[in-house]
Amino acid sequence: MKSTNGQLQPTIFAIFGGSGDLTWRKLVPSLFDLYQDLSMPHNFSIIALDRVDLNDEKLRERFRDGIVKFSRKGKATNKVWAQFARHIYYQQGDFTKSEIYSALKNRCENLEIEWSVQAQIIFYMATPPVMFNEIPRHLKEAQMGNDSQRTRIVVEKPIGYDISSALKLNETLTGNFRESQIFRIDHYMGKETVQNILAFRFANPLFEPIWNRSYVDYVTITVAEGLGIEHRGGYYEKAGALRDMVQNHLMQLLCLIAMEPMVSFKADEIRNKKVDVLHAIRPIEQDKVHQYAVRGQYGKSAGKQLCGYREEAGVSKDSVTETFVALKLFIDNWRWQDVPFYLRTGKRLPRQVSEVTIQFRAVPHKSFPQEAIPERQSCCLVMSIQPDEGIELRFQAKQPGTKLLLKPVVMSFNYQESFSVPLPDAYETLLWDVMHNDATLFMRADQVEAAWKIIMPVLKAWSGKPPDDFPNYKAGSWGPEKADELLNPGHHWPLPTELESVGKVGG
Ligand code: BG6
Repeated sequence: MKSTNGQLQPTIFAIFGGSGDLTWRKLVPSLFDLYQDLSMPHNFSIIALDRVDLNDEKLRERFRDGIVKFSRKGKATNKVWAQFARHIYYQQGDFTKSEIYSALKNRCENLEIEWSVQAQIIFYMATPPVMFNEIPRHLKEAQMGNDSQRTRIVVEKPIGYDISSALKLNETLTGNFRESQIFRIDHYMGKETVQNILAFRFANPLFEPIWNRSYVDYVTITVAEGLGIEHRGGYYEKAGALRDMVQNHLMQLLCLIAMEPMVSFKADEIRNKKVDVLHAIRPIEQDKVHQYAVRGQYGKSAGKQLCGYREEAGVSKDSVTETFVALKLFIDNWRWQDVPFYLRTGKRLPRQVSEVTIQFRAVPHKSFPQEAIPERQSCCLVMSIQPDEGIELRFQAKQPGTKLLLKPVVMSFNYQESFSVPLPDAYETLLWDVMHNDATLFMRADQVEAAWKIIMPVLKAWSGKPPDDFPNYKAGSWGPEKADELLNPGHHWPLPTELESVGKVGG
């Protein structure tokens, strides 16, 4: 996470897949925003490596276009752009051949001569996953990752396709780099609102005493997307929602909500506490998966304006890939025993919303007369990750008037109102952390493996028994009705529209 101290060493970003979408859309715009915020070192260089025929000038034009479209700061003035662009270079080559690594090594050495100092070098694999096993090996052969203090390697998801491929990938990574040099990105961890879960829980004494099975009835984690699969049919057909979202982003959220307090803010201390949560999750038996997991796939929308998943480009007409997942998990430890954690995610749901709700238990004794509480609703804390960014506490309050009548109201904290500064993009935070060698927000090998272990029985059960009811939800709806059947009696998936129907305190 960002701090204000520490002078940055000269840094070289060697981006494999430098002409690709991720570099254009996320990495370079974020580096540009850091540059504008004076958060880049005085000496830095972005070396984009790729197969395609490009030169420095053409690449810089492409990056400028990406900055105009995606950077938080927006358009670059000609002067600022010229200053930034001189740090960018292109290196063409084939990642499976040694030549490109020698060329990269030369470039790095020349920059170090020019700067009269050794630089830290960050190797960023923004490539298709098939290259993840290739690049680290070549970097080691070229002896480019030897200095464990100065060199790091960044890998993007998907970290494996299942547990065995994840193990294999971790083996390749750790066979060529030390674990402390490996930064596995989950961009959810870079989101301010996700990091704020830790601040909220552990920098305030108020909620921690009730953050447990004695007070919490159940927890829901929703990551809903209004969009479909866009232009990613080829990738998504092989991934599906369980691999694409649950194994990584939703598990990260679950860990932050459920973990024990950390003793210090050291990277490994926090990562240990997160892994503990994953290890405590009750394994789902393969023949009982239907009791704990529901899958769905969107069909056409009610008015037929939106096409179904099977009509999307790159998708097979009889695809059985899931675009929706709901899971019920239990964490077998003292804090959470028997508290259900309901997770759901899906594409083409009514709108984008990511939020966590902590539903507290009802009062032990109902002393108010029934007619005083027309809308019975237990106390509930909602942590909104996006697009709304904030926290709401919902509780019962007395309505003004002579008659005794209670009504649900909310107390809320909203980022924009409280801080009135734009939130950095997740990649800005994560790139800044990589430059500062801070691995707190990145996944360690054991965490990735533990997350895969949790979902493996579901993956196996689903691949062994193709669904016979797909598509089973309409684009624009909240997913298959079966997702409700996962819930224990009296529990419900919160609908974001409910937020709007609750009165504001002092409003
Ligand atoms: C990515 C998934 O990791 O996260 C996408 O591959 C998904 O399918 C995206 O749309 C969601 O990220 P965000 O930041 O838009 O919530």
